[in-house]
Amino acid sequence: MIGRANGKTVSITGLGCSVPDRVITNEDLSKAVDTSDEWIVSRTGIKERRLGDGVAMSDLALPAARQALDQAGVDPKEIDVLIMATVTPDMAFPSTAAIVADQLGMPDAAAYDLSAGCTGFMYALAQGYGMLAAGLSKKVLVIGGDVLSSILDWTDRSTLVLFGDGAGAVVLEQVDGGGFLGFELGADGGGGEHLWLPGSGSRVFEDPDKAIKMNGREVFKFATRVMVSSAEAILDECGLTVEDVDVYVPHQANVRIIDHAARKLGFPEEKVVVNVDRYGNTSSGSIPLALADAAADGRLKPGKLVLMTGMGAGLTWGSALITWTHETNGVIA
Ligand SMILES: CC(C)(COP(=O)(O)OP(=O)(O)OC[C@H]1O[C@@H](n2cnc3c(N)ncnc32)[C@H](O)[C@@H]1OP(=O)(O)O)[C@@H](O)C(=O)NCCC(=O)NCCS
Repeated sequence: MIGRANGKTVSITGLGCSVPDRVITNEDLSKAVDTSDEWIVSRTGIKERRLGDGVAMSDLALPAARQALDQAGVDPKEIDVLIMATVTPDMAFPSTAAIVADQLGMPDAAAYDLSAGCTGFMYALAQGYGMLAAGLSKKVLVIGGDVLSSILDWTDRSTLVLFGDGAGAVVLEQVDGGGFLGFELGADGGGGEHLWLPGSGSRVFEDPDKAIKMNGREVFKFATRVMVSSAEAILDECGLTVEDVDVYVPHQANVRIIDHAARKLGFPEEKVVVNVDRYGNTSSGSIPLALADAAADGRLKPGKLVLMTGMGAGLTWGSALITWTHETNGVIA
């Protein structure tokens, strides 16, 4: 799916993020599996991540949502749609979105979860945009996040070192100018088995252990391809070039994937947001956490053109272009 935003102008008016307090270093992981700080840093760029201990998705989503609403100056009662992008909901049903909407006090909101792997936040942004642009809603809360600690295999060094927990939330509203310019989203279910959680649904598996399974090399090849092709496609669709982009916010999976995409696309280092070293891959939390960091270091200002590209399980990918419109606070709670 690809398209220019040609409905009402819609933008991000508030941003909030939340991560567990517990910091797990590479050194800590090397006590659990046969790995080392040197291997993890050189292959992934990750130095530490946050992993909750008994934390549920809604526990992280709530503070992120409150911060985003506060920043936008929006009362929870005004939200008419809450979309929660996650593959680690509190439970299969009720949706984590419904749980969070209740806790926040959103009596009039439609609330549902969305599953698109690490690309979930990008898919949810596009849906939220669509509902606002079509006039179906007035204020949308999009939350992206995952508690990957709940599905990690602590004996599998090939996946354990990559992931972290985190969540981010944004308020979407109609604005007078600026905002989203377009979206490109895609999925290739044929590659689904390269990154999956067999036994987590209705399909019966012989020996399910409900932990992430991944073919790292295949996912790496997929990622380096789509991070570039998706960005190029949306820029082309919107009649823009890499030179027009002020801030590039790629999914934070691996610094080698980010470096590859940035180099191929032609982004200078100062335009690329990287915080995978501190949080690891937080799946749908990754792009909002990176936005918060860009805000904190002063790069995310009104008027700046921002390119976000995600990829993940599905296999899925997605990009969005937005002209930033609101002053944004980059505090990660
Ligand atoms: C997982 C990933 C970091 C592995 O890096 P790589 O350079 O491809 O490493 P390889 O898979 O070739 O493995 C090299 C060796 O390191 C070993 N290894 C794997 N994980 C290790 C770890 N944590 N510590 C030490 N050694 C490790 C492997 O067993 C392999 O050993 P072998 O050669 O004896 O078989 C990389 O493939 C990757 O980032 N893939 C994308 C994953 C991703 O982003 N997933 C989420 C998408 S949203």
